[in-house]
Amino acid sequence: MKRDELGTTLTKESLKIMLLGAGELGQEQIIEAQRLGIETIAVDRYENAPGHRVADRHYTINMRDAKLLRGVVEKEKPDVIIPEIEAINLDTLFELEKEGYYVVPSARATHTAMQRKRIRELIAKEAGVLTSKYVYARTDDPDAVRDGCEKIGYPCVIKAIQSSSGLGSTDVHSPQDVEKAIEAAKKEARGSAEEVIIEEFIPFDTEVTELAVRHFDEDGKIVTTFPKPAGHVQIEGDYHSSWMGFNVAEYLPQTPENTRDMNEELAIKAEKRIYETTKKITDALGGRTIFGCELFVKADGDDAIVYGNEVACRPHDTGLVTFLSHQNTFSEFGLHIRAVCGFPIPGEINEDGFRVLEPVANAASHVILSPFDGHGIAYKGFWKAMGMDGVALKIFGKPEAHVGRRMGVVIASAETVLEAKKKAEIAAHSIEIKTHGNNWKTQTELETRKHVVFGAKSRV
Ligand SMILES: Nc1ncnc2c1ncn2[C@@H]1O[C@H](COP(=O)(O)OP(=O)(O)OP(=O)(O)O)[C@@H](O)[C@H]1O
Ligand SMILES: [Mg+2]
Repeated sequence: MKRDELGTTLTKESLKIMLLGAGELGQEQIIEAQRLGIETIAVDRYENAPGHRVADRHYTINMRDAKLLRGVVEKEKPDVIIPEIEAINLDTLFELEKEGYYVVPSARATHTAMQRKRIRELIAKEAGVLTSKYVYARTDDPDAVRDGCEKIGYPCVIKAIQSSSGLGSTDVHSPQDVEKAIEAAKKEARGSAEEVIIEEFIPFDTEVTELAVRHFDEDGKIVTTFPKPAGHVQIEGDYHSSWMGFNVAEYLPQTPENTRDMNEELAIKAEKRIYETTKKITDALGGRTIFGCELFVKADGDDAIVYGNEVACRPHDTGLVTFLSHQNTFSEFGLHIRAVCGFPIPGEINEDGFRVLEPVANAASHVILSPFDGHGIAYKGFWKAMGMDGVALKIFGKPEAHVGRRMGVVIASAETVLEAKKKAEIAAHSIEIKTHGNNWKTQTELETRKHVVFGAKSRV
């Protein structure tokens, strides 16, 4: 039910939320919850995770272990359990839900979204949304994988059935690539690689995350509020930069740097289609949460085609841009906390009947990646980055670095989305990192593909 009362923090009456996974996205949810006087418990697999440092209490356990997971839940008896990562014992979540615990948005939705086959079936069949063509095959049967590729046609993408951040996914251009793709799926997958999904490669013009929130309205009915779509760019399947702004014609259906292709009418069509598509998918998943609905957008004459890709039932990394594009406490993290706790989210009904939440700035985000492996991490370049007008910096404070690991993010606001994107890129590339035995270096030598200011050098 909608909530209008709250007991005070650290008493028997307090509202307690438990984050299962407390990385940089969990940390922001905890901060938002604490501002409201909600009691927070952070659980992660490693000590000093970003969320551990800000929560009222924290635990370090392997959440795949049913006994350990149940142990912390029964000890804390949280009112709200937020699964923030995928390495969680799902059977335990289902049991806890049956016993009366509130799992966000539900054990079923969490279970569905974490595996490519289940979420693809939900998007394509249950929600009836257009997707890339796809088939599944077992990795112990390479001929079946090859047949699948023939059926879909080249180029296609082979992805391990359960993974994330582009790990275990390979673009396949000919039958010669198939074996390597199977090996990559088996070796890199974060979850299971018994099976792969083979998808048609979609030559989209841009991709977006629609951060739709399902929450209670005044009458206690679940409604959906749509922030503006967040455009983003992924490199090797991992988020690198994202943006959001007032005027979608700046970044739909093309990327912000392709200003020549700007077309107001097409942008409005694309925006509407994005909301329609997201509504179908999120209704099928159900429950209260913010969803990161990943969609591909492609111009097709004077129409815009929107493909469903996949969905997260929680705040999304590309949504870090809402830190500045939205009003304070209305970032994707603030919206999520409101939704799961039963607090209101104001919105306006637009002319197409969608409940929308307008941004307050044109903004963009850009990741800060580590150029090194190791411990003893330090950061430099704060005067350059933070000295830029409209730039906000978030350093995650992770205790260990790996080459290419996300260590922080820059969010910048500006007059236009493109200016914000450039500014975030410049600021992020001015942060230097060192680790034990390695001296100061920016991420510029590591990655500049798909960049606006730094050009297109390949990985060294
Ligand atoms: N069928 C496709 N056609 C074109 N590009 C694709 C396709 N599938 C994936 N991609 C590209 O690869 C990126 C990553 O793929 P996807 O989102 O499916 O997996 P993931 O990133 O590994 O999962 P997660 O988002 O859970 O971390 C996409 O954002 C997109 O840029
Ligand atoms: Mg993805």
